[in-house]
Amino acid sequence: MNETATLWWDSDNTGIHYIEQTLLPNEYSIVECRSIERLATAIKRLEIRGAPALGVAGAYGVALSAVLADKKDLKSFMTAVQRDADILRSTRPTAINLAWGIDRVLAAMKPARTPADAVTIAIAKAEEIAREDTACCHAIGKHGAALLPDNCTVLTHCNAGALACSSWGTALGVIRSAVNAGKQVKVISCETRPLLQGARLTAWELARDGIDVTTITDSTAAHLMRKGAIDAVVVGADRITRDAVFNKIGTYMHAVCAHHHKIPFYVAAPLSTFDPKNAEKDVIIEERGRDEVTIMGGRTFVPEGAHVKNYAFDATPMELVTAVITETGVLRPPIDIQKLLSHRSTT
Ligand code: MRU
Repeated sequence: MNETATLWWDSDNTGIHYIEQTLLPNEYSIVECRSIERLATAIKRLEIRGAPALGVAGAYGVALSAVLADKKDLKSFMTAVQRDADILRSTRPTAINLAWGIDRVLAAMKPARTPADAVTIAIAKAEEIAREDTACCHAIGKHGAALLPDNCTVLTHCNAGALACSSWGTALGVIRSAVNAGKQVKVISCETRPLLQGARLTAWELARDGIDVTTITDSTAAHLMRKGAIDAVVVGADRITRDAVFNKIGTYMHAVCAHHHKIPFYVAAPLSTFDPKNAEKDVIIEERGRDEVTIMGGRTFVPEGAHVKNYAFDATPMELVTAVITETGVLRPPIDIQKLLSHRSTT
């Protein structure tokens, strides 16, 4: 199976390479990013996307800022890096991994005595976060694969695959690991309006790996559940509070339908996605531009006089979640997040 990285640090320490996801599946293109402004734009445009990949992008972003910042004295150097970190942090508000990746690198840089030391530390920490993310995905995959029966059909929403992580994926990591373990797994990939991460990215990744994938419109999911054609739902997450799972808009709809039809609803996510400080009511759900909804293939489908709402995420209450699959094991709600996070690296 394909283990290509989604984003990586240049070996000459001058920037970040990443797969430009808005162009897939028509064009596979690698971008070289050498400025914070370009990285911030890439995140806002979803050239890099998916919660764990955003965590790695944030970490590499701080390393890039450290490389680029003026190294006259440590204080002004750190002020410049902090300013860039704030720019990156503000690009997307819902996926907690972005801030987590940024803060881990900033915390690691604190003991540095010179800007040069801080650069070395930042690069090493960002590389470590990227490696850890891949290891987490494989561990999530292994734990989750055990939950899937042989000869099953799994519905997934959006893209929680290799492209949303360093590599391998969370929800798709579970599917890949199950297939690697010899299970027959078919995947139903919801197209995921309006930006079609399911149709464009999930279907591309799985087809490339030779895994049986069928794309449906989002509104077909309930119909298939009612027909008994879905054995499990596995999705990723952008943030998990004590009371809810935030994920791509439409996830809640699948959770309600799965609950009604007694289909297990699994969330696959690393510990970096948990938010112990906030509850559902405290979390900002990103709202994106009108054009993403109104324009398709260059044509406008909504009249100018009509309002448009374009929420990027929704919240699924914990009581609709059968289990959360993490790198440390399978957790069935209610989950004690504080206790769980005693395992999470903060440095
Ligand atoms: O807007 P996106 O494409 O960044 O949204 C991504 C998702 O909602 C994913 O399901 C989530 O980040 C989990 S990725 C492992």
